[in-house]
Amino acid sequence: MSEMLNVKLASNVVPLRARAHVENQPAIPARATRYPDLRYMGSKSRLLPWIFETLNAVDFDSVLDPFSGTGCVGYLFKSMDRRVVASDFMNFSSLVARATIANNKVHLDGKAIRQLIDGTPPAHNFIEKNFSGVFYKQEDLKFLDRVSGNIRQLQDPYEQALAFAALFRSCLKRQPRGVFTISGDLSHYDDGRRDLRLSIEEHFLEQIEVYNNAVFDNGRRNKALRSDIFELSNERVDLVYLDPPYVPRSDDNCYTKRYHFLEGLSCYWQGLPIDQNTKVKKIAKRYTPFSYRREAVEAFDRMFARFAKSKIALSYSSNGFPDLQQLVELMGKHKKTVTVFEKPHRYHFGTHSKVERASVTEYLIVGQ
Ligand SMILES: C[S@@+](CC[C@H](N)C(=O)[O-])C[C@H]1O[C@@H](n2cnc3c(N)ncnc32)[C@H](O)[C@@H]1O
Repeated sequence: MSEMLNVKLASNVVPLRARAHVENQPAIPARATRYPDLRYMGSKSRLLPWIFETLNAVDFDSVLDPFSGTGCVGYLFKSMDRRVVASDFMNFSSLVARATIANNKVHLDGKAIRQLIDGTPPAHNFIEKNFSGVFYKQEDLKFLDRVSGNIRQLQDPYEQALAFAALFRSCLKRQPRGVFTISGDLSHYDDGRRDLRLSIEEHFLEQIEVYNNAVFDNGRRNKALRSDIFELSNERVDLVYLDPPYVPRSDDNCYTKRYHFLEGLSCYWQGLPIDQNTKVKKIAKRYTPFSYRREAVEAFDRMFARFAKSKIALSYSSNGFPDLQQLVELMGKHKKTVTVFEKPHRYHFGTHSKVERASVTEYLIVGQ
């Protein structure tokens, strides 16, 4: 059950919290439940019914999701027949959004699939050369070199995006904890699950089918962009759904550190040199002010100012910095009414047991 805290702001007044329940809301659109989830830090996949319940009550026809991550929230909005603009500063995220949100019609047909798995030896062996002994078996690495070349032979950008999405999901399934921070002999993680037995090529063929099934036309011109939030072109939208990383109390929130392999794969490491001194062959971290305690407050303020003309819905969590009250006050500088919805939540993501057990309160802070 979600709770709504109504915070009416006046200057220098500590927010007043009125509680009410959101009840009898319609169920999430069936389409959205069929989205191919990616195991991803901060994914809102398990919170989609609550996000739907809450935002379905807000009046909007178009929506921007500029921290799109796995794309599951943007896809929920697409399933609600809204016009969606999804964006993320990671190229691999933006490709997934292109495949599933921007793409209304294109599927990978038999001809494209044959092209993709064509066995001609690849022109390049960058992946095999760099990642042997780091991630995956030799046959998987050879396949990744081959399929990377074959994807580039496809003419249609949506076909390419679908193939990439299928490949990223395959790679995540074959990586025991779904992150690229651990390498070498990972046999102690092998709990017998099917995902770890299949080759990446076998996964890829299955995932093509999965992503083909996710394609649908909501009758709107949806877009997928790749951009830093502060460099986004001006998109005229009714609602902006913001889900930035939170400065955590412990650990860090670096997406490049966890997903560098997918980001490299998305462009065959063109322009992304590998730091050969790192055990897992990382690329340089992408800067975001949302990772730093001393910069986050100013970044939220700047972000709210930037989207002051639209309604704003911010996903946030009780374990982040700055805290709820500070965020409500910041949003109140740019919005007449700020309403806070909250829900208890337990995160299952993490690379150590402490993080896995994290119990938090999730917030949706809505400014209108
Ligand atoms: C909490 S995750 C979003 C999760 C997403 N809503 C989902 O459910 O999958 C935050 C995302 O913000 C992206 N990101 C971080 N800093 C960014 C920035 N300055 N501009 C654009 N995207 C950024 C990260 O790449 C990451 O995908």
